[in-house]
Amino acid sequence: MSAPQPAVAIIGAGAVGQALGQALQAAGYTIAAVLSRRQASASALAARVAAPVASAALEDLPGHVRLVFCCVPDDVLSELAERLALVPHEWSHTVVAHTSGALPAQVLAPLRARGAMLLSFHPIQSFPRQQTTSSFVGVAIGLEGDPQAIALGREVAQALGARPVELSAEMKARYHLAAVLASNGLGALMAVAGEVLASIGLSRPEAHALLLPLVQGTLHNLQQLLPEEALTGPAVRGDLFPVTQHLRALQQHLPHLLPLYAALTTEMVRAGVRSGRLDPTRATALLDRLQETLDSMQDMPPTPLS
Ligand SMILES: NC(=O)c1ccc[n+]([C@@H]2O[C@H](COP(=O)([O-])OP(=O)(O)OC[C@H]3O[C@@H](n4cnc5c(N)ncnc54)[C@H](OP(=O)(O)O)[C@@H]3O)[C@@H](O)[C@H]2O)c1
Repeated sequence: MSAPQPAVAIIGAGAVGQALGQALQAAGYTIAAVLSRRQASASALAARVAAPVASAALEDLPGHVRLVFCCVPDDVLSELAERLALVPHEWSHTVVAHTSGALPAQVLAPLRARGAMLLSFHPIQSFPRQQTTSSFVGVAIGLEGDPQAIALGREVAQALGARPVELSAEMKARYHLAAVLASNGLGALMAVAGEVLASIGLSRPEAHALLLPLVQGTLHNLQQLLPEEALTGPAVRGDLFPVTQHLRALQQHLPHLLPLYAALTTEMVRAGVRSGRLDPTRATALLDRLQETLDSMQDMPPTPLS
């Protein structure tokens, strides 16, 4: 028989706190308390997850809570752990988790000193403040920390329909880097593509509407294929002419985007070679063209801030 589900407290009623609290409640967990910096945030989430305690004071952590999720900004975690460790509680029977992708469980060390088991429980998903869904189904959860805490993290992830992935503390920076590149990198690329379209007179919303079906098609392809297999476009075909045209257009109109274009095209070339679709001679010709252009741009104008 599996152990009964522990009573949960959510600290930090922001984007992740809201999504996690609602998903946990839907999975049958009791949310015993929502604590947050502002009473209003705590009360709003507590009402949604039927938590009997909503407070801005950490001292209000109910005594029977056995799993605490700290869903606060990364920079706040260590100070929060120090303050939480001062709260009288049966810490040696409690797992304290945070949801940061970048920081190890160790950032909560003051609580380990009080006997708590520490966990980093990082959902590889993007949670905007204005949420439409709080589903964790199929989402990978990076788990790192004390063995008993990882075991509980694994149970929770499975109850949410998520996919637990165990990590060491040393792996976390690269694991988080990959998530940032894929998610935030895509967002930044969409913003850059919008900037290019704005330079030919489209408004940002028009640009976004134009690009979205294209990106959705790419995401659809990525559901069936690896990135190397799904990649299309001039670089992977080894077509020098369009790449040269792009470089000229950038030199003339958007020179600050040249290094980004060169870096991305280099990666498209490498992926093309890896997939066996681009022969190394054509790949070298493309890389040489990129380098020539970068070399000719010694006096790059400063990057505009917006
Ligand atoms: N958003 C994502 O896509 C995402 C994905 C995976 C992991 N994460 C990680 O999850 C954590 C939370 O991120 P988030 O996006 O949910 O942040 P967020 O939306 O800014 O929410 C953070 C919440 O923490 C509360 N808070 C701030 N300082 C506090 C303190 N000293 N004590 C108690 N509560 C405090 C704030 O409370 P008030 O509202 O009461 O002011 C706010 O609601 C971060 O470690 C982040 O790296 C985020």
